[in-house]
Amino acid sequence: MSKTDWRIGIAGLGTVGAGLLNFLSDRPGFSPTGGQTVVTGVSARSRARTRPFDISNMPWFDDPVELARSPGNDIFVELIGGAEGPAKAAVEAALNAGKPVVTANKALLAVHGAELARLAESKGVPLLFEAAVMGGVPAVKIMREAMVGDDILSVAGILNGTCNYILTEMEATGRAFADVLADAQRLGYAEADPTTDVGGFDAAHKITLLAALAFGCAPNFAAAEIEGIDQIDLLDIRLAKDLGYRVKLVASAEKSDAGILVRVHPSLAPIAHPLAQAGGALNALFIEGQRIGRIYVQGPGAGAGATAAAVAADIADVMTRAVRPVFQKPASDLKPFTPIDPSKSMGRAYLRFMVKDEPGVIAAVSETLAEAGVSIESFLQKPIENTHGVPIVLTTHAVAESVLMAAIERIANLSSVLARPRLLRVARI
Ligand SMILES: NC(=O)c1ccc[n+]([C@@H]2O[C@H](COP(=O)([O-])OP(=O)(O)OC[C@H]3O[C@@H](n4cnc5c(N)ncnc54)[C@H](OP(=O)(O)O)[C@@H]3O)[C@@H](O)[C@H]2O)c1
Repeated sequence: MSKTDWRIGIAGLGTVGAGLLNFLSDRPGFSPTGGQTVVTGVSARSRARTRPFDISNMPWFDDPVELARSPGNDIFVELIGGAEGPAKAAVEAALNAGKPVVTANKALLAVHGAELARLAESKGVPLLFEAAVMGGVPAVKIMREAMVGDDILSVAGILNGTCNYILTEMEATGRAFADVLADAQRLGYAEADPTTDVGGFDAAHKITLLAALAFGCAPNFAAAEIEGIDQIDLLDIRLAKDLGYRVKLVASAEKSDAGILVRVHPSLAPIAHPLAQAGGALNALFIEGQRIGRIYVQGPGAGAGATAAAVAADIADVMTRAVRPVFQKPASDLKPFTPIDPSKSMGRAYLRFMVKDEPGVIAAVSETLAEAGVSIESFLQKPIENTHGVPIVLTTHAVAESVLMAAIERIANLSSVLARPRLLRVARI
């Protein structure tokens, strides 16, 4: 292998960009092929901003698109973020100029992955995104490289550290969602606008990419069913625990003869299960292959050092000229997948009904469920102070989602039921 020097342009000098610059300054000789790595251009929104590293000797570009197409660099690294705008324009410009691109941008690839893969492959250059899913955990490499000799059946896990941190804190401290979110924002675990994280969209971007890698299809973010944690009630976290479960934001993708189902939901995991044990800001993922069986990985899904390490691993792949299709198959063969109608999917559920404290209520609820074809697995009635009414909580055996929804509607209309029933899925893990 020849010793080549590599010139890198980096757009985006925030958390991950700073992590990458720190890494490259700690490891000036970083190159698996033995040459030198030099940063030959940087771009961010504000040149005047004080940064925790020295960029005075690095050429500055006001416009990341100019940096992307500059003949002064061999590899373009996009660390700006966002599905549209400057990140997309810069990645397109770099690919059009025939430059390898490394990005951590899950939103961009979940929405525009198929067209960018076509562009990259038409130019014969890699488009790599290890850091976009699970930060420092090499989930993309496992799917794109290690598991190509198998047929992946499903992937499921915790893909958003902010949500995992909030849920863990709510359970540990008994504080409500809004209170813990405010703390997470103060500590820098959550953005000022937390919608992308707590609304489930970030996890949906990531599971969309894992589904594309797992099943060799075009990323189809629009097909993902998304529910975040912003409506999670502390009461459900407590009651789920009484039933032996922990609430986690679980993102999953599974394939069957009917198509592919990609979803993100707050879900119950049995307390002893590894997903329930992955607390704080950790990410965790189960991958199930037909031949390999189940693989479990867990680690830091975010943070400057961990995410920059994943970016550096992709840069190393460019340097060694490791060539793989962007999403498992040649881009021209990527087809949008057929989403499974979620109402036909089968699963177990947790239901909470707030009812009047009067005789006959439990019988009315269980009879209505039985008539609708929903069978109860476990049941809990617990007086809780400061709640309006008494909660009845149960878990069901596996049932079609449409049957479950019809049963919930009927129970919501009972005169003894005081509020809209709360549904959480039991994770299929
Ligand atoms: N943070 C993590 O732990 C993590 C983990 C995995 C993946 N990612 C992904 O990595 C990417 C970067 O995330 P981050 O957390 O590092 O973001 P960040 O801290 O918000 O940094 C974003 C950077 O982009 C720059 N920028 C914004 N608009 C720009 C424009 N129009 N032109 C040029 N530069 C512009 C900003 O400039 P200024 O500095 O001048 O404001 C900033 O340096 C995102 O795609 C994110 O989803 C992040």
